[in-house]
Amino acid sequence: MTDLISIARALVAPGKGLLAADESTHTAIKRLASYGIETGEEMRRQYRDLFLGTPGIEDYLSGVILYEETLAQKGDDKKLFPRSLLDRGIEPGIKVDQGTEPFPESPAELITGGLIGLPERLAAYAKTGTTFTKWRAVIMIDGDTLPSAKAIHENARRLASYAKEVQSAGMVPILEPEVLLEGKHSRTRAKEVLIETLSTLFSVLDEHAVDRSGVILKTAMALTGAASAKKDTPEEVAESTIEALMEAVPRQVPGIVFLSGGQSPEEATENLAAITKRAKEKQAPWPLTFSYARALQEEALAVWKGKAENVPVARAAFMERLKKVSAASRG
Ligand code: G3H
Repeated sequence: MTDLISIARALVAPGKGLLAADESTHTAIKRLASYGIETGEEMRRQYRDLFLGTPGIEDYLSGVILYEETLAQKGDDKKLFPRSLLDRGIEPGIKVDQGTEPFPESPAELITGGLIGLPERLAAYAKTGTTFTKWRAVIMIDGDTLPSAKAIHENARRLASYAKEVQSAGMVPILEPEVLLEGKHSRTRAKEVLIETLSTLFSVLDEHAVDRSGVILKTAMALTGAASAKKDTPEEVAESTIEALMEAVPRQVPGIVFLSGGQSPEEATENLAAITKRAKEKQAPWPLTFSYARALQEEALAVWKGKAENVPVARAAFMERLKKVSAASRG
């Protein structure tokens, strides 16, 4: 039986973090189109290879979250992507949820699907070498009305069922209940929703007998809504985020990773640096690091433009951001 605690610890090794390269095909097409890049399967392979084939990423990345299509693709090194990562000491993970749909009991909110057939899919993924998985739930804030307690609870219930299956399959589940940045809410409101979401999640995990020491939490930071005119300072973000985590996350959890959620690469870096510094001051019990998609990829995609001749400069931009984010994770 694989040792879940060792995998979890490896994912949050000092100075390292995760690249979330698990955009669904639909999201990848949209994301690349916003940079003027038209995609088919081969272009998406080149997109993944741009990041996963960058020399030296193993110094800063403990793991990469992959999407199903990428598992069966090869990098320019002629190795299947999961194999290529393993050979460089990087844990390959897989997004296993199947996206969101309206929650029937509160149709303005979203619920995540993907539990049907999950054990069979996990068995197939494990054969490719994956050691961890991810499931993303979405929690939307709308003033004092949303999120509803029902949506928080149903998303937590599904995260718990997912986590139980993944642990039984010998992999570490990343639990990502993403509190969205969209909206006009205050940072205080975001903190309150984070506390409610995470407290509910950990109590439901206990009811499902999920081993807390064999999971990784992936969370948003406590931020003022993107549509608000107010801008948070990194110190304010750090204060609110650490307070929320200290109140809601059990100390046995072996690590917490942050999503970037639409922050610019610079904001996501500065906020992470302030959070890890504050965590040290407050003697927070868990290692904290990054698990970014957009904040790690944006600058490289802007110079790559889907062209082979731009690969070296795009990879240099990626490495530069990776180094800064890794330094931020050290606090
Ligand atoms: O599910 C979302 C990704 O894992 C993180 O993406 O850093 O762009 O928010 P992001």
